[in-house]
Amino acid sequence: MHSAPTVTEPSDPGGLAAGRLPHCVDSCLLIRLGFGAKDRDELAVLAGRPETRAEVERAIAQRALADRLSSAAALAAGVAHELNNPLAYVTANLAFLAERMGRLVEVLSGAPRTVEDVDLATQLAEAMREARTGAERMRAVVRDLKTFARVEEERRVPVDVRPVIDSCLNLAWAELRRRAGLARDLEPVPPVLGDEGRLSQVFVNLVLNAAQSIPGGRPDDHEVRVATRTLPDGRVAIEVRDTGSGIDPAHLPKIFDPFFTTKGPGQGTGLGLSICHAVITSMGGEIEVESAVGRGSTFRVLLPPAPQEPPQRAQDAGPSAPPHPARILVVDDEPLVGAVLRRTLAEHDVTLVESADAALARIDAGDRFDVVLCDLLMPGTSGMDLYRAVAARDPSLARGFVFLTGGAFTPAARAFLESEPVDLLEKPFDVAALRAAIARRLAPPPAPA
Ligand SMILES: Nc1ncnc2c1ncn2[C@@H]1O[C@H](COP(=O)(O)OP(=O)(O)OP(=O)(O)O)[C@@H](O)[C@H]1O
Ligand SMILES: [Mg+2]
Repeated sequence: MHSAPTVTEPSDPGGLAAGRLPHCVDSCLLIRLGFGAKDRDELAVLAGRPETRAEVERAIAQRALADRLSSAAALAAGVAHELNNPLAYVTANLAFLAERMGRLVEVLSGAPRTVEDVDLATQLAEAMREARTGAERMRAVVRDLKTFARVEEERRVPVDVRPVIDSCLNLAWAELRRRAGLARDLEPVPPVLGDEGRLSQVFVNLVLNAAQSIPGGRPDDHEVRVATRTLPDGRVAIEVRDTGSGIDPAHLPKIFDPFFTTKGPGQGTGLGLSICHAVITSMGGEIEVESAVGRGSTFRVLLPPAPQEPPQRAQDAGPSAPPHPARILVVDDEPLVGAVLRRTLAEHDVTLVESADAALARIDAGDRFDVVLCDLLMPGTSGMDLYRAVAARDPSLARGFVFLTGGAFTPAARAFLESEPVDLLEKPFDVAALRAAIARRLAPPPAPA
């Protein structure tokens, strides 16, 4: 479980009951669990007495359990809400397509065409576009949710945060310019060990939040300041400070909760800060917040520097090799995934099988393949076992493996991906990324030095 972020209420300067609470009672935890100032003082006194200390611990544990259950319920309700709207028009549009497609087939098969048929074709195309928009929206929600489960598995490399911040500020500029001036105070800092995409997600979230806390129309009166510096203990600090609305102390304990938002419908999902927290804590860092209503907020990200010689993963061949017709074996226990892969990769010669054993049988029977698109975790023999069996038979085919995953990693799968030079694509996959991975697998291996 991630540690709770540090939140500071301006009404309680210096943090809660600093120095008064026994070590077993974490002041940040108490704020997060919603204990008011009076209760916290009482708990501090009771926890200080040996005869009542166990009782205090029990009360806190009970509140923590209730908090977790209600967070899980809120998360589930939030997910359902975020998915239900797009789901409604995806299913309705697909139903419309299924119902009316028959007429299109009749016309294409030679039935006499009427004026309505032209209109129908336009409507079908529109329904398809809308269904796709809905699916993209659901994909974005699921991708955000997967961030929580997946941040631990990110592949990490040393990253200089300053160019990442620069590009995030460029992205956020459209939102910022109407509201505030932008001050960049980016001192050189040591690299941190992380994933550039994830860090961008964090900085964009923080800068957009800062911008959105400032009313539009008076950019000369407001400022968002982004600063980097190295702390005396070697950690890298990235600070996003705004002169916006500030955060109501009653909201402060909740801002890192998934789906907590004070923004109107359609303006915020409330996932931003919870994702920031998950990403930063997975990197061994922290997020601190200070805020004063009417004066503004400061979010400070603290990250440990990358070790001098970080472990480097063997680089795969670059994505630039042009794709050419290839013999592709698709191994996925979900037939619909196989079907859409075959349709998408029509320029290649695609063979579908639904299990690792069936794939091996094909290979053993002498069928030749250039690329294997393989589900990572399947019931029965896993994709990893298939890879090992293939590597023992034909190392060149093992180099053609691209794994597909829905995101549920076991420790064994994580270790496998770290140790083997294979490609990994996440479902739902992007067609361009799929083609690029196939092209990489088709590129000749680098010549030995
Ligand atoms: N810089 C800030 N100033 C004032 N309030 C903030 C600031 N940053 C966050 N908040 C408060 O915290 C809430 C949660 O922020 P978070 O980024 O998690 O979600 P969101 O911005 O509402 O939606 P999303 O990021 O998903 O679009 C916000 O709705 C807002 O109330
Ligand atoms: Mg946000």
